[in-house]
Amino acid sequence: MKFSCSKTRIALTTHFMKIFTVATLVCAIVWGAMVSQSWAEDAPQSIKVLVAYHSLSGNTERMAKGVTEGARSVVGTEVVIKRVGQITAEDLFSSDALVVGSPVHWSNMSGEVKMFFDNWQFKFGIFPEFKMKNKVGAAFATGGQISNGKEITMLTILAAMLGNQMIVVSGGGAFGASATTEGNSPGIDNKELAEAKALGKRVAEIAKLVKVASSR
Ligand SMILES: Cc1cc2nc3c(=O)[nH]c(=O)nc-3n(C[C@H](O)[C@H](O)[C@H](O)COP(=O)(O)O)c2cc1C
Repeated sequence: MKFSCSKTRIALTTHFMKIFTVATLVCAIVWGAMVSQSWAEDAPQSIKVLVAYHSLSGNTERMAKGVTEGARSVVGTEVVIKRVGQITAEDLFSSDALVVGSPVHWSNMSGEVKMFFDNWQFKFGIFPEFKMKNKVGAAFATGGQISNGKEITMLTILAAMLGNQMIVVSGGGAFGASATTEGNSPGIDNKELAEAKALGKRVAEIAKLVKVASSR
């Protein structure tokens, strides 16, 4: 009698252990599915940053390469770097962010960069839809002298972007990244290059935030 009672107890214990194991497995599978779904939602979005520049003697081009390097340091970022005259409508409209660089020409952006912006309508037909709306925009500039137009150059680039309802950001310096290239400070030094990289990185980070937020 005692023997059969303990046999029943063992059978019952084994039965409950089986139920417990199956329940644990089911919970683990459901939890795993929930975690992987939320991971997929938070997974880094891939973004495209377009770096557009004009350069006669190579200074602004060096800064453009620094911006490119900074943007590429953000995981999931594809960067297209082109001279302003080579940019197509597809380059422009498929980008999530645009960073435009210009040498200072007579205290303002160069004529080539201004023509690039004017062509948004003349060549690419940006209106009436505001096709650049809510893309991230930023600027960089190089100028021969310390205080002869770099900030105006960056601000006029940002103004063109604001007029197109883009989301403009700074980085590197207060209005973007800049370098002085003549006199006591010839060419692009490491500090100026670091500013360009910081700008590229910030643009990519913000573009990613905007894309993740707008896809929710
Ligand atoms: C037509 C022309 C006008 C310029 N005007 C200015 C100016 O107003 N202020 C300034 O600081 N530098 C001026 N510069 C100097 C350039 O901005 C500077 O050398 C710049 O770094 C050149 O960039 P790049 O090598 O990419 O062409 C001028 C250069 C040119 C060719």
